Amino acid sequence: MSYIDIIKNRRSIYDLNDQLPVSEKVVVNTIKHVTVESPTAFNMQSSHLVILMNDDHKKLWEIVTNTLKKQVEESKFASTQAKMDMFSKAKGTILFFDDRHVIDQLKKDFPLYQNQFDMFADHSMGLLQGNIWNALAELKMGASLQHYNPLIDDEVKRQWEIPEYYRLTAQMVFGGIGSIPEPKEKMDADDRVIVYSNNS
Ligand SMILES: Cc1cc2nc3c(=O)[nH]c(=O)nc-3n(C[C@H](O)[C@H](O)[C@H](O)COP(=O)(O)O)c2cc1C
Repeated sequence: MSYIDIIKNRRSIYDLNDQLPVSEKVVVNTIKHVTVESPTAFNMQSSHLVILMNDDHKKLWEIVTNTLKKQVEESKFASTQAKMDMFSKAKGTILFFDDRHVIDQLKKDFPLYQNQFDMFADHSMGLLQGNIWNALAELKMGASLQHYNPLIDDEVKRQWEIPEYYRLTAQMVFGGIGSIPEPKEKMDADDRVIVYSNNS
């Protein structure tokens, strides 16, 4: 499959199940490879991942559900519960964290760029998440990107003994594909990409 075909196959897929087309080991090794090979600003490598599968994955969505129960009105909770049940049915979730110590140290070491390092860390994190999302698509798996941080941070850190100075940035739910969503409307490439290529 060409690279363009792989990234075309990456979608936000919510209808997921726990039947993977490959072994758990292949999934874990793929995520590890992508993490090591994805570039980071100043080679800072500030992103850390925790892969939750099976009962640990279900525990995460129980934590999210219980946290949201305290925030959402009881009469409106049915749709939230349905969403939580949908995520829980998947195989796993990747938790993405930034190591704040690494980022703060770089701010001290390179004062000229100190205002840029949070942005660099976010960009590096985005690249990593995109690369993993694409790699899972290549394995014919589905995934969606969720952001229940910072609501769930304290409980997640307690449950899986995550260092206090790690910042949770996203949760990527993954699994076997139940159904693929309808295509989304996309702007024309020429409205977003402008080319100047004068030769003098
Ligand atoms: C940085 C980023 C944050 C996103 N956050 C969420 C989110 O919190 N919840 C969600 O359901 N989808 C989230 N998405 C998915 C986007 O809504 C989705 O990628 C976009 O609508 C295009 O659809 P597609 O992924 O099916 O191509 C996020 C995507 C990106 C790139």
